[in-house]
Amino acid sequence: MKENRVDIVVYDIIKAVREVMLKHDVTHSEYLAAQAFLATFLSAPAYEIPLALDIFFDATVHDAEMTHRKGSMTNTQGPYFKGDCPTVTTELKVLPEKNGDPLIIEGRVMDVDGRPIPGAELFVWHSDPDGNYSGFCDYMPKNDYYRGRVHIPEDGNFRLLSTVPYAYTIPHNGPTGILLKAMGRHPWRPAHLHFIVNADGFMQHVTQIYFREGEYNDTDCAESVRADLIYDFEFSDGKKVIRKDFYLDRI
Ligand SMILES: [Fe+2]
Repeated sequence: MKENRVDIVVYDIIKAVREVMLKHDVTHSEYLAAQAFLATFLSAPAYEIPLALDIFFDATVHDAEMTHRKGSMTNTQGPYFKGDCPTVTTELKVLPEKNGDPLIIEGRVMDVDGRPIPGAELFVWHSDPDGNYSGFCDYMPKNDYYRGRVHIPEDGNFRLLSTVPYAYTIPHNGPTGILLKAMGRHPWRPAHLHFIVNADGFMQHVTQIYFREGEYNDTDCAESVRADLIYDFEFSDGKKVIRKDFYLDRI
């Protein structure tokens, strides 16, 4: 008989919650408080449920994914990806008045054997120096700043000039932020770069990378930081450089 994966996974979740309730002697009033709390999602903005799931579980999905991948480590996509961003070759559009610290983002898109993957499509996006994303804030209403799509050439290499992203808080006035606060946790994410790589014949690669000694690396509210995703700045002509090579798994 075909196994019922929904029953297998969901019933294990139910059993795990029951074990936690017994372990911590959860009272009936606490149980009712949990019910009332969950009901607050019904009147919250539509992004709150995906936000809560991203904060508490998305990174774990990638940990599970990496148990059957050999290539570079994947990581949380987050809510700020925009597929309709500009095609770029050498730089991302930045706001000069923000006086961002210049950053060169360079690397190579390869298969797991180190052969370049020409024709791959690389998306990169990150926050501005105030921790905001274009398309999601009043002063950058379009999806054009601090993000771009690169068509990877024959040699697999890319090199883009942008500015260093900064840490930011997730939306924290709704149920997700209220729960984090009740848990004694802050709503900050450490500074990071986002990437998606698509290539024919390869698994989609979604990831983030973080910076050595970045503030909140150890207390990321999404608990997404992994040691293999922490990168050191190099320097070229006085500018910070992050080198990020991608090794993609074949389908
Ligand atoms: Fe982000």
